[in-house]
Amino acid sequence: MKIISVVGTRPNFIKIAPLINEVKKHPEIKHVLVHTGQHYDREMSKLFFDDLEIPKPDVNLRVGSASDVTQTANIVRESENIILKEKPDLVVVVGDVNSTLAAALTAVKCNIQVAHVEAGLRSFDRAMPEELNRILTDHVSDFLFTTEESANRNLANEGISKSKIFFAGNLMIDSLSSHREKAKKSKILSKLKLEQNNYSVLTLHRPSNVDDKESLKRVISILSGIQQKTKIVFPMHPRTMKNLRNFNLFDKIKNQKNIVLTEPLGYLDFLSLMSNSRFVLTDSGGIQEETTVLGIPCITLRNNTERPVTVEHGTNVLVSTDKAKITEASNKLLKGTNFKAKIPRFWDGKAAKRIVDIIIKDFN
Ligand code: UD1
Ligand code: UDP
Repeated sequence: MKIISVVGTRPNFIKIAPLINEVKKHPEIKHVLVHTGQHYDREMSKLFFDDLEIPKPDVNLRVGSASDVTQTANIVRESENIILKEKPDLVVVVGDVNSTLAAALTAVKCNIQVAHVEAGLRSFDRAMPEELNRILTDHVSDFLFTTEESANRNLANEGISKSKIFFAGNLMIDSLSSHREKAKKSKILSKLKLEQNNYSVLTLHRPSNVDDKESLKRVISILSGIQQKTKIVFPMHPRTMKNLRNFNLFDKIKNQKNIVLTEPLGYLDFLSLMSNSRFVLTDSGGIQEETTVLGIPCITLRNNTERPVTVEHGTNVLVSTDKAKITEASNKLLKGTNFKAKIPRFWDGKAAKRIVDIIIKDFN
């Protein structure tokens, strides 16, 4: 059996690592790893291959950055050649990025079966590029591997046959489980002169927060208040960096004395940073999940989440970019509010095994 896995962005690399390790245990499977090149900076790509010991991609399509539509089209065009050449039995895609949709679409048009890992998540907000990627990928996929119960319900509500849906768990948590110990050796706290439990972590990259000058200005002004009470470590995503510079806002954030700006961090350093923090402020999808398992409070700067289990069972609170809500949530956490998270079902480090077992059973 031949499988092509297609990845392109930072969270994709983290999700594919445990799946590749599991596939390796099956010599009957030939595996080809394709990197679309959607993310290409060392800090957004190579660092993850190193930290997670992912083998070098067999193919790099080097599509790079472009508008949402053009980038998707470029990945479709470039991945057609490789799919036609390799003639796999199955194409595996993960998550909700442009590389996910483009590869799924190409495969299905070449009459190749598609497995979508992290299927069924819905924010019900079609203004998010990821929401369209999720819906469209799910509707062309043959195997839909889900991470939480809400996803099973969403897929059923959209009329997707139950026979295609497999509740397998969360690959991102597989990676977390297998790297927690290793991350304890990270020197990031001493490097950034941080004390355990005495700082917060911020990540921001959603277009709704960072692509519009006024929204970005509002977020900066909110952070300006919070940093008076706690140090905020901010590893900056390249989209956010680009926009801060284009809008002439970079100095506004750089000059805040209690905000520590860094490049995007590698997986082990970032895991260590989150694990030792007081709380996390974010608009990331994956970080809402990781903080739930780490038991670190997560304040999500969005109106909605496609991962409701992180709010229902986890440490996540949704605050939009409402100044009063964000300030109240962080003040509460600075006072030491303690709440217990329940680990969602199948977020147990064994998702990759479930997925590969299902694929093998079905192809035999
Ligand atoms: C993409 C995903 C998003 C995911 C995020 C993970 C889509 C539509 N969006 O968003 O769902 O949460 O990845 O981080 O697929 N850039 C660099 N260097 C890089 C990569 C990007 O400088 O290595 C800059 C470029 O200016 C680029 C911008 O960042 O235009 C945005 O990159 P892109 O991949 O289009 O979207 P992300 O915001 O990274
Ligand atoms: N992450 C990282 N370094 C950083 C920021 C994030 O290693 O500087 C990791 C984080 O732990 C999580 C993943 O990147 O595993 C989330 O990716 P991102 O927020 O870019 O994408 P999303 O999950 O929102 O699609």
